Amino acid sequence: MKRLFVFMAALLFMVGYSTAAMAFHDAGVARCAGCHTMHNSQGGVAVDLDSPTGNAYLLKDATPSDTCLMCHAAYGQKSADGQTLGPGGDFYWVTTDVTYSSHGTVTVYAREHGHNLDAPGNGIVEDSVLTSAPGGDYDSTYMGCNSCHDPHGNMNFRMLYGAGDTAANYPGDYSFSNAAPVATGNSRRTGIADTGAEKTGQHTAYVSGMSDWCANCHSGMHSGMTASLVHPTDETLGSDLSVNYNAYVTTSDMTSGAYATSYLPLIPFEDAANTTTSTTGTTAASKVMCLTCHRAHASPYPDAGRWDFAATLLEESHPVGEPYLTQYDGAPLDMLNQRSLCNKCHMQDEDDHLTEEIPVP
Ligand code: HEC
Ligand code: HEC
Ligand code: HEC
Ligand code: HEC
Ligand code: HEC
Ligand code: HEC
Repeated sequence: MKRLFVFMAALLFMVGYSTAAMAFHDAGVARCAGCHTMHNSQGGVAVDLDSPTGNAYLLKDATPSDTCLMCHAAYGQKSADGQTLGPGGDFYWVTTDVTYSSHGTVTVYAREHGHNLDAPGNGIVEDSVLTSAPGGDYDSTYMGCNSCHDPHGNMNFRMLYGAGDTAANYPGDYSFSNAAPVATGNSRRTGIADTGAEKTGQHTAYVSGMSDWCANCHSGMHSGMTASLVHPTDETLGSDLSVNYNAYVTTSDMTSGAYATSYLPLIPFEDAANTTTSTTGTTAASKVMCLTCHRAHASPYPDAGRWDFAATLLEESHPVGEPYLTQYDGAPLDMLNQRSLCNKCHMQDEDDHLTEEIPVP
């Protein structure tokens, strides 16, 4: 009996997975009952147990983000153990204290791992330090999946808001001034073995507009929008840095890389030639953008970094067992001697020789 059930469940899974029958949003508004309950009652039992006196938007869980996570936790957007390779990143990390000790200094990171949602049912609360968006004024109290994605769907990449759109629960409205980015993604399932995992030959194809889109809330971080002295973003690499990107493999090998194979999903860039399976590197016209260095959701590292900006050698990087860098350990990266990944464009590690390390007095 049990066996038959397992078999049928597997069959259902295969059928569901291979057809469009399991799709939900379908690039538009999904069935209302997927997220809303009209009376907070079904069979005489409350649907949203957290809101006995009512839910402002008649949602099936306490907040918009908790409602999304009824389904999306299982797809990997907030995993139980951080073992996912979502291109957007895993909100697991903002719930997790990571202790790191370097040269005798001990630091603990949790909320620093990225965007902190209003999702108490999933152990996530608003950022206690960043009360509004750095470089902007979006109020952190209202941070949720629906701050960035339109719950009622649209035709944009990942249903991200476009110019003029905003979440209905933001008081007084927060209108986006810049359009959604042009890009193509893979499946929403981001477990390590899944078709949405980010790895060599399987990644988001970033084409244009990501930096402008992030600047809807962080305009002060965009080099093209303010007079502030920030790292160039949405700017072309030019031939020198492009040549570097393609030649650089790892700290101990910065010459044997080739254009055809040098795309490293850990350090992406925007280019019209990118596809979700491309392995080709940069041209002088490729652009550096916010997601060259950051994850959109959260990451194992502070500041939602794609790698640890605070580590000299990424091998010392915390936490041990994080999946994003681990998958490249051995090839193409030599993790026993890998300095910051800023070097893929800048090659400031060209004179580093760990094997001849100078003893610390
Ligand atoms: C009932 C389950 C369910 C709920 C609740 C749900 N989703 Fe989804 N979501 C899915 C499924 C299934 C897909 C796969 C693609 C599709 O259906 O369009 C998906 C895909 C997505 C995608 C990727 C779409 C793309 O174009 O690749 C985004 C973004 C997304 N959901 C955001 C949200 C947000 C934000 C919420 C909450 C407001 C939410 N989802 C609530 C089931 C759900
Ligand atoms: C994927 C989840 C999801 C689905 C499906 C969904 N909603 Fe919503 N809805 C939300 C969330 C979250 C809010 C809270 C406000 C916001 O984020 O815009 C909301 C708010 C609303 C509101 C009030 C604010 C506004 O935007 O006017 C209305 C009305 C509404 N939904 C109607 C519907 C109807 C009708 C359907 C089906 C055709 C539907 N929703 C399907 C998630 C969803
Ligand atoms: C809807 C507004 C909004 C958008 C769009 C947005 N952010 Fe944020 N961001 C915030 C707010 C609010 C905070 C501060 C609260 C928090 O950390 O959750 C923040 C914090 C951050 C942080 C600091 C995290 C930490 O804890 O140190 C980084 C890094 C960041 N955002 C990067 C990005 C990038 C990259 C994009 C584009 C993919 C982006 N943001 C898009 C609102 C936004
Ligand atoms: C600060 C804006 C922001 C917030 C908040 C946010 N997303 Fe995203 N999300 C993005 C962007 C941008 C991407 C595209 C990332 C990429 O491909 O690099 C994305 C990608 C995704 C994807 C595609 C698969 C993946 O993991 O990359 C899904 C599904 C998704 N988001 C769902 C959610 C859900 C559910 C929540 C809330 C629990 C959420 N997002 C919160 C901006 C956001
Ligand atoms: C070249 C890599 C790089 C690029 C490109 C980049 N960042 Fe950052 N970002 C960093 C680093 C490193 C930090 C850590 C703080 C620092 O060094 O100033 C950071 C920190 C942040 C913070 C946290 C600030 C705080 O006060 O806690 C936000 C927000 C942020 N970046 C947003 C963005 C946005 C939005 C873009 C695109 C418009 C962007 N970044 C582009 C590397 C980058
Ligand atoms: C995808 C390639 C790329 C990556 C990765 C990258 N940069 Fe840059 N960086 C650029 C470009 C393009 C410029 C502007 C052109 C130039 O200065 O040659 C630049 C310029 C700079 C400058 C000079 C800024 C100025 O205004 O003169 C510094 C400093 C810098 N980057 C530091 C970093 C650091 C630190 C990191 C890692 C956190 C990093 N970069 C990662 C592409 C990159």
